[in-house]
Amino acid sequence: MSVKKKNYTLSEDLIRPWSTFVPKQAAIEVSKTLKSKWINTGVKEKELREKACKKWSFRYCVAVSNGTAALRSSLAMLGVGSGDEVISTPFTFIATNTAILEQRAVPVFADIKYDDLNIDPKSIEKRITSKTKAIMVVHYGGNPVDLDEIRKIGTKYKLPLIEDAAHALGSKYKNDYIGLKGELVCFSLQVVKIITSGDGGLIATSNQDYYQKLKKIIWYGIDREEKKTNLIDPLPNNFKGDVLGFKYNMNDITATLGIVGIDHFNEAAKKRKVIGERYRNELSGLPKIKLMKYHADRSPNYQIFPVHVENRLRFATYLRDQNIMVNINNRRNDIYPIFGGLRKDLTSTARADQDVILLPIHADLTQRQVDHIIKHVKEAVR
Ligand SMILES: Cc1ncc(COP(=O)(O)O)c(C=O)c1O
Repeated sequence: MSVKKKNYTLSEDLIRPWSTFVPKQAAIEVSKTLKSKWINTGVKEKELREKACKKWSFRYCVAVSNGTAALRSSLAMLGVGSGDEVISTPFTFIATNTAILEQRAVPVFADIKYDDLNIDPKSIEKRITSKTKAIMVVHYGGNPVDLDEIRKIGTKYKLPLIEDAAHALGSKYKNDYIGLKGELVCFSLQVVKIITSGDGGLIATSNQDYYQKLKKIIWYGIDREEKKTNLIDPLPNNFKGDVLGFKYNMNDITATLGIVGIDHFNEAAKKRKVIGERYRNELSGLPKIKLMKYHADRSPNYQIFPVHVENRLRFATYLRDQNIMVNINNRRNDIYPIFGGLRKDLTSTARADQDVILLPIHADLTQRQVDHIIKHVKEAVR
């Protein structure tokens, strides 16, 4: 069977760049949740948060409907609003920066480092003004940013740090899981992530005050765990109406999928790691292709596998003829007018925007397919 889609055909022979990891147990567990008829935020959502805290050593964790909601809730909780500036990276999926716009704030783009595509700490410091209210970083492709340097800048200028960790579940920085020590660390459980809940997000924080506030922000200004109901009133007794909140809570169907994902995380992560390490062993040192810099003190989770290549379109066309799809994860965000126009001082971003492409990496790839990809990537860059 093949599916017609836009200007290309997805056939069974085609090696796709991503897949969706759904363990067999998911259907069984979701069916149990459905039969229980408790599908709103409840015991499963709580179980998911507890499991996530245990697995990745988070101190506190809030579950939300998606990763974009996690970012926006974090900004709102910090009080980032109209006219405030947030220093951010332009080299990311647009959600990192649309969340800033949703709060009517202004993303101020720092440059990235060409060798790992992460925000450049030196470029952050230059862009701090009296209007700066927060720093936003993305652990691009699951390869952690220079956290120590960036935290130092945050401390020096008293600026909170939001980590967009949509790509970085299970990644480590200096032996700590991403999320263990962070102030506001936002994960995504969207369909192409290592594990998925269909759509979903988590905010890990080590700050108890932030945790209490986030619980309210994500549900109309009410802490669901302290909800006190009335006999006839439409809103709980403890609803004061003093905090404007969103409706970003995670329901129990979604949470059930997320729990199964956590239970199978090691299996999913291992598959990616084996493929990623093979790519790194086989493709390093070749002409016309450059792998990402992985730092000795960090463990990336291989969420995606970006590389720099010469003549990206020729490379993609060659591989497409061998039934291998490669794609671009994102363009530099400032090409989109909503972000306020193209910046002229982002040298590494401009370079990466022309030559980064992702090789397929996901749990459904077979060894034969990985062999096929490696063979043809080598031919494509000869
Ligand atoms: C870097 C980054 N940030 C944020 C998001 C948004 O996550 P979600 O789709 O769960 O809203 C994504 C989604 O893929 C992402 O890649």
